[in-house]
Amino acid sequence: MLHAMIMAGGGGTRFWPRSRTKRPKQFLTFSGDRTLLQSTVDRVSAQIPPERTWVITGEQYAAETAVQLPELAHDHIIGEPEGRDTAPCVGLGAAIIHKADPNATIAVMPADHVIEPEREFQRALHAAEQFIADAPDKLVTFGIRPTFPSTGYGYIKRGEPAGTRQGVSAFRVAEFKEKPQFPQAEEFVASGAYDWNSGIFVWKPVTILNELRVRKPEIHAVVTRIAASWGTSSWPEALHTSYHQAEKKSIDYAVMQGAAADGNVLVLSAPYTWDDVGSWLALERRNPQDADHNTVQALHCGIETSKCVIVGDPGQLIATYGVSNLLIIQNGNAILVADRKHEDKVKEIVDALKKTG
Ligand code: GDD
Ligand code: MG
Repeated sequence: MLHAMIMAGGGGTRFWPRSRTKRPKQFLTFSGDRTLLQSTVDRVSAQIPPERTWVITGEQYAAETAVQLPELAHDHIIGEPEGRDTAPCVGLGAAIIHKADPNATIAVMPADHVIEPEREFQRALHAAEQFIADAPDKLVTFGIRPTFPSTGYGYIKRGEPAGTRQGVSAFRVAEFKEKPQFPQAEEFVASGAYDWNSGIFVWKPVTILNELRVRKPEIHAVVTRIAASWGTSSWPEALHTSYHQAEKKSIDYAVMQGAAADGNVLVLSAPYTWDDVGSWLALERRNPQDADHNTVQALHCGIETSKCVIVGDPGQLIATYGVSNLLIIQNGNAILVADRKHEDKVKEIVDALKKTG
């Protein structure tokens, strides 16, 4: 049976100052009235009921997660005592879901993407499930055709064709390169042979746990030990005393690069459009611009202002004169002003603020 495992523990710090520690990105609404987290669940709810839906998040976000997703049972919301990046998160989730349902196949999804149309995403999941049924030892990824040389994504080189299910084509993955430097990203995009990794994965719990055991045995040991106590009275203590011992690593570096080199990964060509709502410029992609190419969500008075993203609290007036290519973001008592070319470095401000207290 297909389970959904939603990873919702990142801070979304590139959306500072709107995302603060108390309210990270997955709890925010970017269009419509459902938050990114709720939309992630909605997207798969036709295929995957709440009994097979799991959210792994920081323990400080568990209560808000339960409020936003009242249909989930409490033991399906797993609160990590501290974020250890996605490899421990994926491993822990796989071990728990395997315990709950030994026949599970898991769709691992970030909580903060916009995917359209839902129907096509469901078709892709269906296809992935069928590929896994035929080849349960494979890790399935979804490839998105790149549109610019992003250095924030993983790149997947399509190898030999591996068949079609539900009209969705699969390829063996010849190479998986996480977050390349800019010149390499440029080469990848120019070659036409690479997809972006969309950060969504489908696999059997046993398969991903085996990969983790081979490639990161310490992480595997920690998470499987903790998961063994899931559903028992020793669970909270096991989680609290051991989780921090797991190495902080993303699943892409910990497993995907090596597994791809060993021929264990498939990539399905995604039949849907995808946007990792990763930073402020995502707002520009998701909303119309004014005549001067500004994206405005504020009361704005602008003269000779172009190519800016301007966001404020309701009723906040922002006036600009003679500026272009800026991010101007007001939220509560904080204002961000940054060159748009540094959009993916906004998180460095959050780090710097943490250091200065
Ligand atoms: N529970 C939990 N714990 N979730 C986490 C943690 C953690 O410690 N760290 C990150 N997450 C969640 C984030 O909230 C997000 O939903 C997802 O896991 C992915 O983490 P990101 O930090 O956003 O990863 P990324 O964007 O740098 O890179 C990944 O996604 C790209 C596509 O968006 C990689 O898989 C790339 O290869 C991929 O291209
Ligand atoms: Mg991301």
